[in-house]
Amino acid sequence: AEPLKVGVAGLGTVGSAVVRILGARAAELEARAGRPIVVTAVSARDKGRDRGLDLSGAAWHMDASQMARSADVDLVVELIGGAEGAAKACVETAIEFGRPVVTANKALLAHHGLAIAQAAEAKGVAVGFEAAVAGGVPIVKTLREGMAANRMGRVFGILNGTCNYILTRMEKEKIGFAECLADAQKLGYAEADPTFDIGGFDTAHKLALLATLAFGVQPDPDGIYVEGIASITPLDLQMAEELGYRVKLLGVATRTEAGVEQRVHPSMLPMDSAVARVGGVTNAVEIDGDAVGALVLSGAGAGGDATASAVIADIVDIARGVGGPVFGVPAATLAAPSRAPMARH
Ligand code: NDP
Ligand code: HSE
Repeated sequence: AEPLKVGVAGLGTVGSAVVRILGARAAELEARAGRPIVVTAVSARDKGRDRGLDLSGAAWHMDASQMARSADVDLVVELIGGAEGAAKACVETAIEFGRPVVTANKALLAHHGLAIAQAAEAKGVAVGFEAAVAGGVPIVKTLREGMAANRMGRVFGILNGTCNYILTRMEKEKIGFAECLADAQKLGYAEADPTFDIGGFDTAHKLALLATLAFGVQPDPDGIYVEGIASITPLDLQMAEELGYRVKLLGVATRTEAGVEQRVHPSMLPMDSAVARVGGVTNAVEIDGDAVGALVLSGAGAGGDATASAVIADIVDIARGVGGPVFGVPAATLAAPSRAPMARH
């Protein structure tokens, strides 16, 4: 069978892991995809940096959009990051040239997902974004395909690995906020600008995408109430623990009569609840569907290999010809954001 020629834009924490695992698991992935998956092109800023990868078979592009339109590439993997700039141009160019896209970029999709989905659907190309929400946890596929028969009441959970890592270490090891954040950055969990993590904005980007998948509303990150974890102290965590609670940064989307309410803030959860028990970089999402009931998915929410796992799952799906609307239903049918008034909690 014809190989699928993959171009990878961004060779940082996630991009490097994707290229490495695609190479190391080539035979198994070919068996699943029904055709070889070959990295034929890459793009990053610094060509001279040793990334521990064999890139000898791949064309190097300084410009990710140029890579996206090159004849060497059938599918474009965008792992640059950021809602604007090179990442957005790369994705838009790929779609314009009729090439499917796989991305982990929740900031881009939260802000521009509607336009991207409309453009992709007009061209008949797939956009995979499993890695954009909860890292390696297959929550996108679960909501989009696995729960298709359900009307969802609520989706909530821990959606940021950096914050959960910080809160867990502050609680268990009594280490200060700054040291925990520095370690999360060293481990490759944090965003290039960690304000997105600790300020709650990354959770809001992911929540906007979950709300689109669960409730069929257009992504609307600017309509989400957002509060981060910067003001939480070890004393807050200790007092919550004494009362039998854990403090977690949650994203919560709820169907109400007035529309879909979406909010991000630190919350006290009973210690024995499924989501409260999740520590470290692990994410956990609980979905309430009217047919299946409550479902909880948990697993690594950040980190190179875990995120590459989700990126590669999308690549394999596309290699097998899996497609369909980006958010499960045609983008044109997504409801305008309703900005339901906040309930008191
Ligand atoms: P990194 O900062 O580690 O890597 C970013 C990469 O993009 C680098 O290789 C950089 O090049 C490259 N780059 C930057 N600007 C350009 C440009 N203009 N043209 C081409 N390449 C460029 O980021 P991550 O790997 O951590 O994250 C990538 C994406 O994945 C982001 O959208 C992030 O939100 C998302 N994500 C990350 C997770 C994680 O755990 N890290 C988990 C889930 C999603 P150079 O190396 O030369 O500087
Ligand atoms: N910075 C993000 C996190 C990466 O910590 O969850 C995964 O999206």
